[in-house]
Amino acid sequence: MSERGQFRKASVRDADVADRTVLVRADLNVPLSGGAVGDDTRIRAALPTIELLRERGAKIVLCSHLGRPKGRDPELSMAPVAARLGELLGTEVTPAPGVVGAEVEAAAAALEPGQVLLLENTRWEPGEKADADEIAAGLAALADVYVNDAFGAAHRAHASTEGVAHRLPAYAGLLLEREVRELTAVLGDPERPLVVVLGGAKVTDKVGVIERFLEIADRILIGGAMCFSFFRAQGHQTGDSLVEEEGIELAGRAIALAAESDCELDLPTDLVLGARFSADAEPVAIDGVDVPPGMMGLDIGPASARAYAEAIEAAGTVFWNGPMGAFELAPFAAGTRTVAEAVASTAATTIVGGGDSGAALTEFGLADRVSWLSTGGGASLELIEGKPLPGVEALLDAGGENGS
Ligand code: 3PG
Repeated sequence: MSERGQFRKASVRDADVADRTVLVRADLNVPLSGGAVGDDTRIRAALPTIELLRERGAKIVLCSHLGRPKGRDPELSMAPVAARLGELLGTEVTPAPGVVGAEVEAAAAALEPGQVLLLENTRWEPGEKADADEIAAGLAALADVYVNDAFGAAHRAHASTEGVAHRLPAYAGLLLEREVRELTAVLGDPERPLVVVLGGAKVTDKVGVIERFLEIADRILIGGAMCFSFFRAQGHQTGDSLVEEEGIELAGRAIALAAESDCELDLPTDLVLGARFSADAEPVAIDGVDVPPGMMGLDIGPASARAYAEAIEAAGTVFWNGPMGAFELAPFAAGTRTVAEAVASTAATTIVGGGDSGAALTEFGLADRVSWLSTGGGASLELIEGKPLPGVEALLDAGGENGS
């Protein structure tokens, strides 16, 4: 296995936290179902940092966003997250009466070492997403030290991920550090061949990653609805398939870049079609990729899925982000399942970006069979693309210098 990537920010392990109040930003943005936490993966991923701080006698003020609320949406209160976190920690997690302000400050000041206060949804405050000074200052007023463990939100320059880091000594949490190390290792000196599997709906979301990997990977395998932008660039018929019009030119450019590079760019050679995006649509497999009018491509075909699985099995390192088709509809899940099973069974190092590919692995019961399953969807893509993540950049550099 290749060496894990480097990380140059100060770690929570080196922070002086005993008897001090520590504001921890985690990504507890979890799916809710019937008023309770649906999938607690992200809460579990935040536990090591919280447990380390409790062991060291810190008073913990924890915060996160939840969903994309418009104002103080009670459906997106952190109360169910506090309940689940309390069960997992085996101690009471006190829900705070808001995000910032006098009442929250009083609740933070009343904490004893080892106790945990969970702030309300940071996005209930309009200043959070605007990275407003008043919210950053309000958060900083709650604590002596800041720890960012919210890798999944590290690509957002928000008050709780970025602004507050300039107002307190700011350290990286254990999860954030591990995420950056695991994901950047793919870019460093990966075991070869490096095979990259990219799916999902939009080329515009993935084009930066495709271009980065064209420089360093051995093969890129494309699936998901974004194929149809590539097929249109090649002059194929796409019927009623989901086509991102602004992606067609980008896809054409990626095909041209691939022709000049040492990396092979593979598109599916067969498809599974349906008359509509529905679980009761009849799946129709076709050889070739021309989709007739009245039909839409909803999965890669069996020959493509087999070829992709073989490439994954022969890889030294695999990076996977994005499903191969509409896996949430049972008749169109086979391509994603075949890829997920290959990723789970290959001897290669397997790194999976979060989001839908993580959800697919979880649904197929394979989430614990990969080397690293990122908790960040957008954040993992931006990191791979080489974009600076504001939530990481703002932290103290290892050695004590302030981040930028
Ligand atoms: C995610 O779920 O990808 C993160 O929690 C970030 O959420 P956002 O896309 O709403 O900023």
